[in-house]
Amino acid sequence: MFKVKVNGREIESKGMVKDALISAGIKINKLLTDGDVDKRDSIFMPCNCGGCWACTVKINGKTSLACITPLKKDMYIETLKYSSKQVLRVVSGFGAHYVGGVGTPYFLKIQTKPIEVVVFTHGCNLRCPQCQNYKIAFTDLGSLLDPQETAQILWGLKEVHEVDTITFSGGESTLNRPWLLKTIESIKKNKNNLNIHVDTNGTILTPHYLDQLVKAGMNYIGIDLKGWEVSTFQLITGMEDYDLANQYLKNSWNSVKYLIEHYNMDHVIKTESDNELNDFQLKSTNRYPEKPSIFLGIGIPYNKQLISKSELMKMGEKIKAWDPKIQVCILDYRPEFRRNELIKPNWQEMVEIKNMFNELGLKTVIVQTERGHFGP
Ligand code: FES
Repeated sequence: MFKVKVNGREIESKGMVKDALISAGIKINKLLTDGDVDKRDSIFMPCNCGGCWACTVKINGKTSLACITPLKKDMYIETLKYSSKQVLRVVSGFGAHYVGGVGTPYFLKIQTKPIEVVVFTHGCNLRCPQCQNYKIAFTDLGSLLDPQETAQILWGLKEVHEVDTITFSGGESTLNRPWLLKTIESIKKNKNNLNIHVDTNGTILTPHYLDQLVKAGMNYIGIDLKGWEVSTFQLITGMEDYDLANQYLKNSWNSVKYLIEHYNMDHVIKTESDNELNDFQLKSTNRYPEKPSIFLGIGIPYNKQLISKSELMKMGEKIKAWDPKIQVCILDYRPEFRRNELIKPNWQEMVEIKNMFNELGLKTVIVQTERGHFGP
């Protein structure tokens, strides 16, 4: 046991700094509601692995992480308002991408030159046992950068690779709200016609956060919907806490609904009858003249060991009712990380799912397969 002080109060605790915070009555949150941003009696700790830098406190006057810093005697720990923290995040994997993500319009996906530059943000609030990016999602083994530093690197890469899209992926890119908003603002400050693409599991997004992202300059967003039933979401994401899983799943679906209902949607439109990629373009719904257009892509995982076809159909029905032209990308989940027993769906299985979604009435369905993407 160590004697430490938390916000001036003497506490005896062992373990990590977060354990002393809990002993001092500080609430550890896995969700950050808009009203919690300026509270000091709770702390947002979504990744618990040192990647997101949302859980910073001051220890003896120095910015440190509550989740992975071991306690030592005589520490003086101060919690901070979320809005007054130093804005930093662990990132890695800067580079050019040829295929893009869930929020990349279909006709850009199969080009033979880079289509975007990307940064991967460390830390994730989910615990997917088949995570394909686990070295980023669950470690802090990257560079700790502020928004301006990150923006400068992305700007340099964008010039080198001659692309007009900058992408945030992860890990979960949205965990550190001030970092993400400030980085997007820094990028957009210099040039307004760049596309900013945010790839997210959507689980901690709120309408206000989405509005902030759009205001900062985000115009492409890919949101994963990892199930319809909470039990499926728990199986896919490794989330044991039912209530939290339920809330995360609701947030991701609500984010899709909110964007469709409150913004002009850019859709992939086929302009001619043959299959040349160049015959596609984006067309906006233009329902709200005062609002910008957003390209929204939805990602849905498929592996028959994780989700049934009938559950997929329920998801497809709901999406179609909101907007049948929204781009939906079905992802073939493969054995990875802690789930080596998974059998990767073959391309015929994936095409069958695509046909089922098309028959439902969804117009822009893509499947990711071992033979590349099959699209509209
Ligand atoms: S919760 Fe501590 S770094 Fe993410």
